[in-house]
Amino acid sequence: MLSPQQQQYISQASDYIRQHNHICILTGAGISAESGIPTFRDKQTGLWENYRAEDLANIGAFERNPSLVWSWYQWRRHLVKDKKPNPAHQALARWQKQLSGMTLITQNVDDLHEQAGSTVTHLHGHLWKNRCSRCDLPYDLPVDYENSALLHCQHCSGYIRPDIVWFGEILPQQEWRDAQMAVTRCEVFIAIGTSSIVYPAAGLAELAKYNPQRAKIIEINPNPTDNPMVDIQIQAKAGDALPVLVEQLLELE
Ligand code: APR
Repeated sequence: MLSPQQQQYISQASDYIRQHNHICILTGAGISAESGIPTFRDKQTGLWENYRAEDLANIGAFERNPSLVWSWYQWRRHLVKDKKPNPAHQALARWQKQLSGMTLITQNVDDLHEQAGSTVTHLHGHLWKNRCSRCDLPYDLPVDYENSALLHCQHCSGYIRPDIVWFGEILPQQEWRDAQMAVTRCEVFIAIGTSSIVYPAAGLAELAKYNPQRAKIIEINPNPTDNPMVDIQIQAKAGDALPVLVEQLLELE
């Protein structure tokens, strides 16, 4: 349920969006929270509660203990496999389908945007893809996500790793260039469900703010970040705010 103030900020945002043609949206773990996927900085549960995600999602941890890191990703896959898009994913897919000019970029490695029907650029890789940690070749054989035994590359017998960008690793170059291109052109930049603390993705809002169009910065997050560049702060869950926002955008088309 949205408060009058939240509704006012959503109307302010939809008024502004309607007057412009190039919109960039960056999503983070928060947009999948209402699908039941814990956000990255939520306390880990169960057998992983003694580990911080940052300590596992890095190449050093994998080199020291590949079995531990691989098991953690198998556990995350087990956790995510039955999750479905929520109204926030569905609203963005509807927006992209029925209106032009919106580019969707995500930091998430789940495929809920794709399941909802969106076209999306992944900056941090894909939870469901794997590659060799030594020769980098994609590993396309079926993987039993209930089995945490390490897998070996058929070409060089290196350990197989998830095709995910780990802390300290560079982002996929084509996706990063595409994201920067879209953000440089946008007139409105919307950050949804992200704590905006992990760079370089977190720097996209600043790139938008100071691009030639001086883009308007909108944030949708129940726990507002202290990002001073935000012009319109919608303090609400994505699953509550986005269906209302998209409804307003579509009703005047
Ligand atoms: N709707 C919108 N936002 C939400 C919701 C919700 N229902 N629930 C939580 N949030 C917000 C939280 O307030 C938080 O600000 O989502 C944000 C999630 O932040 P993080 O857990 O830090 O996730 P994210 O910002 O995506 O992390 C960025 O860091 O760990 C790396 O590679 C990983 O892609 C990840 C990156």
